[in-house]
Amino acid sequence: MIHIPRAEYTRRRKALMAQMEPNSIAILPAAAVAIRNRDVEHVYRQDSDFQYLSGFPEPQAVIVLMPGRQHGEYVLFCRERNAERELWDGLRAGTEGAIRDFGADDAFPITDIDDILPGLIEGRDRVYSAMGSNAEFDRHLMEWINVIRSKAHLGAQPPNEFVALDHLLHDMRLYKSAAELKVMREAARISCAAHVRAMQASRAGLHEFSLEAELDYEFRKGGAKMPAYGSIVAAGRNSCILHYQQNDAVLKDGDLVLIDAGCEIDCYASDITRTWPVNGKFSPEQKAIYEIVLASQEAAFAQIAPDKHWNQAHEATVQVITAGLVKLGLLHGDVDELIASEAYKAFYMHRAGHWLGMDVHDVGEYKVGGEWRVLEVGMALTVEPGIYISPDNQNVAKKWRGIGVRIEDDVVVTKQGCEILTGGVPKAVADIEALMAAAR
Ligand code: GLY
Ligand code: MN
Ligand code: MN
Repeated sequence: MIHIPRAEYTRRRKALMAQMEPNSIAILPAAAVAIRNRDVEHVYRQDSDFQYLSGFPEPQAVIVLMPGRQHGEYVLFCRERNAERELWDGLRAGTEGAIRDFGADDAFPITDIDDILPGLIEGRDRVYSAMGSNAEFDRHLMEWINVIRSKAHLGAQPPNEFVALDHLLHDMRLYKSAAELKVMREAARISCAAHVRAMQASRAGLHEFSLEAELDYEFRKGGAKMPAYGSIVAAGRNSCILHYQQNDAVLKDGDLVLIDAGCEIDCYASDITRTWPVNGKFSPEQKAIYEIVLASQEAAFAQIAPDKHWNQAHEATVQVITAGLVKLGLLHGDVDELIASEAYKAFYMHRAGHWLGMDVHDVGEYKVGGEWRVLEVGMALTVEPGIYISPDNQNVAKKWRGIGVRIEDDVVVTKQGCEILTGGVPKAVADIEALMAAAR
């Protein structure tokens, strides 16, 4: 299995600590276990920031980073080994495993955190944490601070500054390393195979969930524990619902099906959308819309390179889509005016993409100092223009209604421009039709 090597986690912790102010401490909790119903839990997914700094896959753990601490800069609180619990729930690293296998300098039982952590915080000037994103943890943090404050008369020094960790950490996460790109390429490869399999299986009379099953099969066979987000399998008019999740309608002859799905490998997402005809052959109207979306995506790729800013790709898609809709008679008027008045938003109401990484909509600022961010090598993003003609749109001829097309690929910025990570699934009309014909 392709995964992030341990040395990379060490490198990340060091890089973060190098950016922290002198005499500071960073504290991050693991994700909580989420209950699905009664005593059934959701599949556990580690918090992305926690995973990024530790690779530690268990709940009930807290990372503490203390740059410059003599007895070790990286302390991990975690569950202790427990033969009874491990018999029921699976193995735990325990404090020994935290040191041996996960590079902690020091490890303590999570049950001792209230006794130990105030002593680690005491004397540090600044605390970095993900303030505001975990109310329960924020409350704990204040309790630990209050323990120190209550001992001020004994000379204890509580920290005076609380700093959001996000800014430093999320900027680091925005730039993907060689190891991260390897994992992201693997997630993309598996997701491409899943889309190809779903295309090959597509038949009128099946349900949307039948195609979702084909996706899941490839995801799991490829080693993915789960999809990176809820798969969207949207046939016919459902393709016009941007975050459709029901996935239970019947696939009809003559309809398109839009699939937006990607798997997660070692906590890295892929995010692919393809749209194809259920019966393997585009109708003239479907093809006309599809070709505009595809051309707009190509125009966007040309705007992804170092020194281009974040919004240039989006602007390129708006230009091509608006001009295309005018040409087909779906919009009327001057292209520049239709863009200025945002008339295109009746058909193209979302943005052309987002950062991609451990979170499908990944962290990282899109603007810096009020200006669109300039792209740099190693940034990963999606390019996903679409046209959605509402089934209820009375302003267009009936033949267009209910057509929804999105095409989405994952790219990383390179010195020359960008590398497309998800090229392994066809998207030209002729290529999709050929692949589907061969599977019939
Ligand atoms: N799958 C969610 C998105 O494309 O942004
Ligand atoms: Mn996306
Ligand atoms: Mn998507």
